[in-house]
Amino acid sequence: MKPHDDLKLFARARTRWTGNQGPRPSGEARDSGVPILSEAKTTAARATISQWPEYDQSPLIALPGLASTAGVGQIFYKDEANRFGLGSFKALGGAYAVYKVLADYLERQHGLGGVESSALLSGIHNDLTRNLTVASATDGNHGRSVAWGARLFGCECTIYIHAGVSGGREQALLDLGARVVRITGNYDESIRLCAEHARRDGMTVVSDTSWEGYRDIPTEVMAGYSVMASELIEQLGTQTPTHVFVQGGVGGIAATLAERFDREWGDDRPSFVVTEPETAACLFESAAAGRRTSVDVTEETLMAGLSCGDVSHLAWPVLSRLADHFITVEESLVAPAMKLLALAPYGDEPIVAGESAVPGLAGFLAAATSPTLAERMGIESESRIVLIGTEGATDPRLYQELTGLDPASVAVRGHEKRKTD
Ligand SMILES: Cc1ncc(COP(=O)(O)O)c(C=O)c1O
Repeated sequence: MKPHDDLKLFARARTRWTGNQGPRPSGEARDSGVPILSEAKTTAARATISQWPEYDQSPLIALPGLASTAGVGQIFYKDEANRFGLGSFKALGGAYAVYKVLADYLERQHGLGGVESSALLSGIHNDLTRNLTVASATDGNHGRSVAWGARLFGCECTIYIHAGVSGGREQALLDLGARVVRITGNYDESIRLCAEHARRDGMTVVSDTSWEGYRDIPTEVMAGYSVMASELIEQLGTQTPTHVFVQGGVGGIAATLAERFDREWGDDRPSFVVTEPETAACLFESAAAGRRTSVDVTEETLMAGLSCGDVSHLAWPVLSRLADHFITVEESLVAPAMKLLALAPYGDEPIVAGESAVPGLAGFLAAATSPTLAERMGIESESRIVLIGTEGATDPRLYQELTGLDPASVAVRGHEKRKTD
């Protein structure tokens, strides 16, 4: 099928693809990987997070107009723009891990076992928890979640940001009461410096990535993300997708979804596609090499949340087993993809999607409009596509600069459309 005129931009883009080097495990071979997230962990995370004030599942939006233009059966967009008012799915992970750190601290240091998040929210343990400082490196969204969790549950918080993090994202961290340290290097350096300062100053690192000897807290971060996966499975019901496209930074959200889908759907699980910026494609390079591989991020991408050169140690074994395709997305596709969702030219609901939310869409459109890629990835007229819209306008000024649109008015148009449908 020839690409629709509006989609030619995506068809022409430079898109690198690599398939997973390993065989697609099925049947018994599927069980050979030790799961990161047991059913007990995902159930506990959901039971806790669904009790937090203002919890609501994020919407799953059907985009029939875009689906018919792109020549597939259906497209669904899981929209994380309003998650707990923080603007991204990351709200689920960092804050949940802060709760787990504080509950663990109260048990170990003060003999208070089984403290629930509602008790921390009520402030009754604040005298004890305020002695603890959580620290994290971030390119925006994870740090916002950790800072929010620290404020909600009553502890101190220091966040490390790198040279490329926008002023708007820094201000959002300050507004949540975090102490912010800006370093001169890139994201991977901010992670190293945060861990070093935490050791020196007695802070507890709440990171969304994991490394040798540091796994437990990032596992809880991923348990928090799994709430989004469980919602999505329920929202889809019997409409099992054929393909899921998700953005990769260190690989935490991709691994969480891949593992949860594997548990749910087994051999019928969808083709799993990880999309990354060209300049920070550590998961892509790992897949191409057949082993965990780092890349040196020398050029900052617009897709700030994905500017990661080192793969999470927890995520890689899962993705090397369960992800099917890895693709890179050209920088020039970011603004057009954001506008496509905002302007909804094919009669769909307008959606506010930030820079790091759209590589899944851009990668899907690049694949669907390229006969070679579409064939490799099995995309055809009956395909049912799920896109994970991981953030909204987390930096509203940048959103406006890139799209020429005010995110608040796009959101209003989205609500109006939903009401009339
Ligand atoms: C909006 C957004 N999408 C996707 C990701 C990628 O998540 P991960 O680093 O777990 O791969 C991030 C990471 O910060 C993000 O902020």
